[in-house]
Amino acid sequence: MEPLPVVGARAVDRHLLVVFGATGDLYRQKLAPALYHLVWQYQMSDRFLILGVARSQMDDEGFKSLTRASVEGISPRQTQLGEPYADPAEWCDQVLYYQSIADGGPEAFDALRRRIERIEAAHGLGGNRIFYLALPPSALGPTVEALGASGLTHSAGWTRLVVEKPFGVDLESAVGLNAMLHGCFDEPQIYRIDHYLGKATVQNLLVFRLANPLFESVWNRDRIDNVQITVAESVGIGSRAGYYDRSGALRDMVQNHLTQLLSLVGMEPPVSFDAEAIRDEKVKVLQSIRPISPDDVVLGQYAPGRVNGRRVAGYLDEKGVSSGSNTPTYAALRVFIDSWRWQGVPFYLRTGKRLGGRLTQIAVTFREPPVALFKSFERSRHQGNVLYFKLQPHEGFDLFFDVQKPSGTPQLDTKSLAFAYEEAFGILPDAYETLLYDVMTGDRTLFVRSDEAEEAWRLYTPVLEAGINPYPYQAGSWGPQEAERLLSPRGHEWTVRLPGNGNPGV
Ligand code: NDP
Ligand code: BG6
Repeated sequence: MEPLPVVGARAVDRHLLVVFGATGDLYRQKLAPALYHLVWQYQMSDRFLILGVARSQMDDEGFKSLTRASVEGISPRQTQLGEPYADPAEWCDQVLYYQSIADGGPEAFDALRRRIERIEAAHGLGGNRIFYLALPPSALGPTVEALGASGLTHSAGWTRLVVEKPFGVDLESAVGLNAMLHGCFDEPQIYRIDHYLGKATVQNLLVFRLANPLFESVWNRDRIDNVQITVAESVGIGSRAGYYDRSGALRDMVQNHLTQLLSLVGMEPPVSFDAEAIRDEKVKVLQSIRPISPDDVVLGQYAPGRVNGRRVAGYLDEKGVSSGSNTPTYAALRVFIDSWRWQGVPFYLRTGKRLGGRLTQIAVTFREPPVALFKSFERSRHQGNVLYFKLQPHEGFDLFFDVQKPSGTPQLDTKSLAFAYEEAFGILPDAYETLLYDVMTGDRTLFVRSDEAEEAWRLYTPVLEAGINPYPYQAGSWGPQEAERLLSPRGHEWTVRLPGNGNPGV
């Protein structure tokens, strides 16, 4: 056998990437630019071809021009890194094909199989296939079953299946989805996407903790007072009411993105940096979370307000939202991990749309000194030790610590040590770039395993079923006041690191 060419750091077998939903928003906005970047960054234009699939009728030329429009001149990294490796038009011409599956019936899938086999034979791809399902959730099951029935899941090479979120709407549906997927694919072939895991700053959480014993040695209940995970968005629901009104903040953000962040902060060190070892530890965190009671949850729904100086409508006035909808656009939760390491440490999670800014941060607040040695000091600006992981924007870390301020009266002030990714490494790759490269190289570390998806739903399904009513909050605020009650019993306050050099803000 010919040795595999090494592309970038890892070997990529030649393969066919079959994208179902290739006329959709995800493909045009995220996948096509990410694929183009990959080709350019790792010089891998000869490693894969792309076959776009959807129901719409279109020829190869139509798909080429649709993709060209997505990759031409849109990427800031293109200008940062210099000349593009491949001319977008030339790349599109060389690698793209399109096949309509019209009604999705057996004949259409038969034709699809024949087309795939022809492309593979013509280009010597060895039967290596990735099926990327960028489809509405309702099309997922029928498509997987049709793939199985048409024999497309078997070939001379490897076959991988990429599944987008949402992965079900509750525990029962997730279990059903897993059973359906496992009817046609083995678990190691399945790559469930949570795009937060592809963000470089999220991946780095583990490296930061485990490569720096300084931090890992204090990463426990003895030294940490509380952990806050904030994923705030200033955008509303845009044109996604059809999906969002049935989903809401708990399903759309908490069950997946925030829970992934929680697992990475809370997990034990894995026995190796291998995909299964890491995913085993993440599942154990989910299994140790105390059942979440309705008292630990505050939901909200945005009312009209101002965001970035512009008046915006309330959720109920958004196009496509059902009248009197109770769908939460904000969720705040208090969660406890009942483990040796974390017993008694509250993890506060919150996320919302139409909040006062767009930021994703994890604030780890360390305990106060055991003895109040500095009680005679003026402490008005004292914040204590807080470590902020700034996942977006302005990716980096800020570690706050107290210093004595030179002045007539003894005073404590809080200052920070800061690290910014962009200063050190330039612009970070998009999450989809990382995730696609991992699928191509067969690395499952950053994908959600079946038991992980189910454990996450197990946690939140009772909360979803409790029928908690959302409180209104003004668009442009930081959510409903009622969310304070989750923190106030322990004297805690919400905290995020706002841009600028000041102290932590709320
Ligand atoms: P869109 O509605 O924009 O696109 C859906 C695509 O699927 C279209 O190409 C549509 O084309 C095709 N399609 C629909 N039904 C079928 C079918 N039965 N068989 C084959 N193709 C079909 O959705 P998005 O691209 O926004 O989202 C796709 C998936 O990605 C969803 O699961 C979404 O949750 C997820 N996602 C999207 C993100 C985004 O940024 N857009 C971000 C994160 C996740 P046609 O009608 O011609 O068949
Ligand atoms: C998606 C949600 O999964 O994540 C969206 O469906 C949300 O509602 C988006 O806006 C946030 O992702 P990011 O990468 O912009 O933080």
